[in-house]
Amino acid sequence: MTIFPTEKFKDLRTPFYYYDMSLLEETLAFIKRESQRYGFHIHYAVKANANDRILERICQYDFGVDCVSGNEMKKALELGFPPGGVVFAGVGKTDWEIEMGLENDIACFNVESLAELEVIHELARKVGKKARVALRINPNVNANTHHYITTGLDENKFGIGISELEKVVEEMRQMKYIQFQGMHFHIGSQITDLDNFKELCLRINELQEWFISRHLFPRLINVGGGFGVDYHDPDGMPIPDFYSYFKVFKDFLELKPDQELHFELGRSVVAQCGNLISRVLYVKEGVKKRFAILDAGMTDLIRPALYQASHKIENLADRDGEKVRYDVVGPICESSDSFGKALDLPEMKRGDLVAIRSAGAYGEVMVSHYNLRKEPGTYYSDTV
Ligand code: LLP
Repeated sequence: MTIFPTEKFKDLRTPFYYYDMSLLEETLAFIKRESQRYGFHIHYAVKANANDRILERICQYDFGVDCVSGNEMKKALELGFPPGGVVFAGVGKTDWEIEMGLENDIACFNVESLAELEVIHELARKVGKKARVALRINPNVNANTHHYITTGLDENKFGIGISELEKVVEEMRQMKYIQFQGMHFHIGSQITDLDNFKELCLRINELQEWFISRHLFPRLINVGGGFGVDYHDPDGMPIPDFYSYFKVFKDFLELKPDQELHFELGRSVVAQCGNLISRVLYVKEGVKKRFAILDAGMTDLIRPALYQASHKIENLADRDGEKVRYDVVGPICESSDSFGKALDLPEMKRGDLVAIRSAGAYGEVMVSHYNLRKEPGTYYSDTV
C-alpha cells in the first residue's frame, strides 16, 4: 500500500508525479519470480513509462524491452538494456529506426505488414545483415476492453490478417536477409478477464500447426502485453496477480520443445506505483453541481479525457465528517478535462492535496503542453 508523505509534499510545486519505488521493486521481483517458474521471457513495454529512474530500476531485473520508436530504443540502450533483449514493434517504422535496429543487432523486429517486411529486407541487404523478425498476426480475438485500446480485431490497423498470412509467408521465404523467428500478438490493453488470454492461447495453438505444416518453425512466440490493473481499488491488490496470468499461458499454450515464450508487459508493471499529486485550486458551486477544480489537468494525465478511464481520487487532507459530492475537474479549457463525476469524497478545501491513483502507466509519457502548460514535476519515494 502506498503511504503518502504529505508533510513533505506541502512545499512542493504541484502537480507532480510521485512514484512508490518500493512497490515498483516488489512488483518487479514478483514478475521475475513468477515468470522464471516457467522460463518465460519478459520485455518491459517502454511506452507505458519511459522515466529514466523507472527504466534503470527495471533494467536491474534483467528484463528485455519492447520499443515502438527509435528514440525508445536509443534510450533503453543508453540506460544499459542489452540489444539482445530489444524487440521493436509499430505499424509505421521509419527507415532510420529500422537501420538503428539493424546496427544494434536487436533481438527481433515485430513486423506488421508485407510492405514493412520488404523495406526491412532491403535495408538489411544494404548492410549485409540478416534481420530477425517475428510476424505480428492479428488473431481476431476480442479483448473486451475500451475500443481505443483493442488491437487484435480484424478491423484494427495492427498486425497481419489471417487471410494475408499465406502470401506474406511465401514472400518471406524468398527474402535472404530475413530470418524468421516466430509469431507476435497483442490483443489489447487493460484486460482483466483472463479468459481473453486463454482464447489467444488456443488461437496460437492452431496457428503453430499452420506454420509447422509449411515447414516453418516459430522458435519464439510473443504474446504481447495487456494484463490489466485494478483502478478502482489500487491498494486492494497493488501487485497484479501475475501468478494466475502466467499460469493461463502455461496451461493453455502448447509450447514445443526449444520454443520460447515472450511477454511485453507495460501497464501491469508500472501503473500502481505512480500517482499524480495535485492541489485543489477552487471549490465552485455550480447550478446543479459542486466542482473541485484541481491544478492538474488532462495535459498531465490524459487517460480520463481520452478513454473515459477512471482513476481513484483521494483527498490527502482526509477530513472527518460527511462526504460531499464533487465533479473533480482540471483547469484546461475543454469539457473533457475531468477526472471524475459525482464522486463522494471527504470535504475539499482550497490548498488540499489530492492523489490521483494508478497513474504510473500512460501518465507521464502522455503529458502534453496544450495551453502552454508546464510539465508536472517528478518525485520518488526513496528520495523525496
Ligand atoms: N505490446 C504492444 C504491441 C502494444 O501495443 C502494447 C500497448 C503493449 C505491448 C503493452 O501493453 P500493456 O501491457 O501496457 O497493456 N494509452 C493507453 C494504452 C495503450 C496501449 C498501447 N499498446 C491507456 O492509457 O490505456
